[in-house]
Amino acid sequence: MTENAEYIKSISNLLVARYPNGARAYIRTYGCQQNVSDGEKMKGFALQMGYTLTDSADDADFVLYNTCAVRENAEDRVFGNLGALKHNKEKNPGMIIAICGCMVQQEHIAQKIKQSYPHVDLIFGTHLLGEFPRLVFEVLSNAKRVLDLSEQQTDIPENLPVKREGTLKAWIPIMYGCDNFCTYCIVPYVRGREKSRKSEHIVKEFTELVHQGYKEITLLGQNVNSYGKGLEENITFPQLLDKLATIPGDFRIRFMTSHPKDATHELIDVMQKHDKICKHFHLPVQCGSDEILKRMNRHYDTTQYLELIDYARSKMPDISFTSDIIVGFPGETRKDFEGTLELIKRVEYDSLYTFIYSPRVGTIAASMPDPISAQEKSAWFRELLDVQNKIGPKRLKKYEGNTYRVLVESKAKEDGCVTGRTDTNMVVNIPGGEELIGQFVTVKIKHARNCALDGELVIGAAGK
Ligand code: 5AD
Ligand code: SF4
Repeated sequence: MTENAEYIKSISNLLVARYPNGARAYIRTYGCQQNVSDGEKMKGFALQMGYTLTDSADDADFVLYNTCAVRENAEDRVFGNLGALKHNKEKNPGMIIAICGCMVQQEHIAQKIKQSYPHVDLIFGTHLLGEFPRLVFEVLSNAKRVLDLSEQQTDIPENLPVKREGTLKAWIPIMYGCDNFCTYCIVPYVRGREKSRKSEHIVKEFTELVHQGYKEITLLGQNVNSYGKGLEENITFPQLLDKLATIPGDFRIRFMTSHPKDATHELIDVMQKHDKICKHFHLPVQCGSDEILKRMNRHYDTTQYLELIDYARSKMPDISFTSDIIVGFPGETRKDFEGTLELIKRVEYDSLYTFIYSPRVGTIAASMPDPISAQEKSAWFRELLDVQNKIGPKRLKKYEGNTYRVLVESKAKEDGCVTGRTDTNMVVNIPGGEELIGQFVTVKIKHARNCALDGELVIGAAGK
């Protein structure tokens, strides 16, 4: 038996003895899709240990917060929730409270939790996902607190159990960590150096998902475009995509996130080559000022970025672009900010993820002078949203009258309707029954709303 299997067996024996009516686990994930994917693995482990999963911390015997550190507000929410759990522990003293992920990989946060939140039993870092059974066993069997932030030096653990969130869409991490050290970003410090999974493991997991009937598979990494670096095999991200897109079956592929400095024409050519690769490109620009991009350590300028956009549009005129934007980076001036406005008007993104800069302890930007007031940054932020709120609906108008292939995902809010997405990632509402969920259908767009489309089924035609 493997070490993990032994721990899991011991845990399940302990749980049966301690909770004759069954033990419940609540596992809550904050932050990015990578975290969601890690959370699915911890849920997989919890089920193997004998826990049933619950949606509420209030009736749980084991609570785990899988946290994010990218911005301060994500951390504040976790501290609030962690504080509230004190009452749960008073009612159920045997319960275990655990916290893991990027937030606690920061030493000062781990120490703060250790000292100020004595009801927390287990604190562990981002490198220990594969050792989750050992950590839970140590807490359960010794009834003492465990803090472990050690960095794993071995290979990426494969074949961990997974409890996927859905039956239609799935996520596959293809790499972990980040080597880019953008000056505002905490990720390289909390997730460590970039490590790619071997392509044979990815292809195997991908093929299994296709056989299980998953229709949309998203490849994940902090910078998928540098996939392959450090592997013994010679493989790039476009080559991996090309390989996956030739696997037989009825599915589509998405990927994120792309760093503009590593996104190449070769990648765009592979996207164009395969119908199975969604024509949606999340290409975070962060800012439209070359001076700020330099200080962000992004290694591209707006000219190079726009060249990439233009090349992609010349090959795939209907491609959709989305981006991340940070407003109020230290030292950003009104003129720099206007550069961002200009750039988003020029690119015409389909949607944007917008953030006000949040200083992160230990990053280079956190010690840069930052004279602009929080109020002014908020005003710029609102201005940015106003501009984008005109661009988004304009982009959607272009869909009216055309037909598209839509993957139906769920029931819509409106009675008698279902909702799905085009491969450009636009939400479409369609009159139809639940039997359509999980199917690719052809839809004619009747009307564009502000952030979604209304369409109707077309029988016997192929959509874009
Ligand atoms: N402040 C604000 N936004 C940030 N992001 C990363 N770090 C910070 C920070 N310190 C944003 C970037 C990144 C996205 C995931 O989060 O835009 O692309
Ligand atoms: Fe952070 Fe930059 Fe790495 Fe993205 S590429 S995770 S923004 S350091």
